[in-house]
Amino acid sequence: MNNILAIDGPSGVGKGTIARIMAQKLGWHLLDSGAIYRAFALAVDARRVDITDEVALEAVAINLDLTFKTEAESELVSVFLDGKDVSKVLRTEQTGEMASKIASIGVVRAALLKRQKDFAQAPGLVADGRDMGTVVFANAPFKVFLTASAQERAKRRLKQLQAQGTMGIMSHILAEVVARDERDSSRKNAPLKPADDALIIDTTELSIDEVLNQVSELVTK
Ligand code: DC
Repeated sequence: MNNILAIDGPSGVGKGTIARIMAQKLGWHLLDSGAIYRAFALAVDARRVDITDEVALEAVAINLDLTFKTEAESELVSVFLDGKDVSKVLRTEQTGEMASKIASIGVVRAALLKRQKDFAQAPGLVADGRDMGTVVFANAPFKVFLTASAQERAKRRLKQLQAQGTMGIMSHILAEVVARDERDSSRKNAPLKPADDALIIDTTELSIDEVLNQVSELVTK
């Protein structure tokens, strides 16, 4: 399957929004790989698995009972873990933090690899994450790496939280964004970095439409 658009970048850059709209526009499937790491972190937490126990972590990853359901009307994706809707708790900063920590473990990444690759189905796939263009879909013909200043990403994250009716404090969010960047970029296994052949777009000063135009142009070229 050659129709793959990989969209990578740091937390809060807006990858999810761009990926969702691009998937709608192209009529392709969507993989939110961060949701897999987040759900995995929730499963590990619920089972009280010791995160230094790699055998136990691998077993949780292999047996992860995870499904994505897209609402026909809103196109919003609900995530079910062990048959329970975890969409809301999945998106919290706390879950993101747990996911980021646990995602640095090599055996976890290896065990979740096939699950991600299986999303590559006709007519095409838009995949967002940290290592879509470098590892999971290293042969993808279309690769984008989105960046933005940490300040701007924290601002976007705060807006997103407010839209969900959740309180947030700018200085805390900024500190979390910076800490997560540091952890995701400095890890040994599949660190956050642009693929050599990725189109790098600094979105700090760009609107969603302007980013979409650049990504669309890449895919249609
Ligand atoms: O994109 P996100 O914020 O939902 O991702 C949550 C964490 O999961 C992120 O901080 C690092 C990890 N992650 C990863 O290591 N590789 C991916 N492809 C996607 C997410």
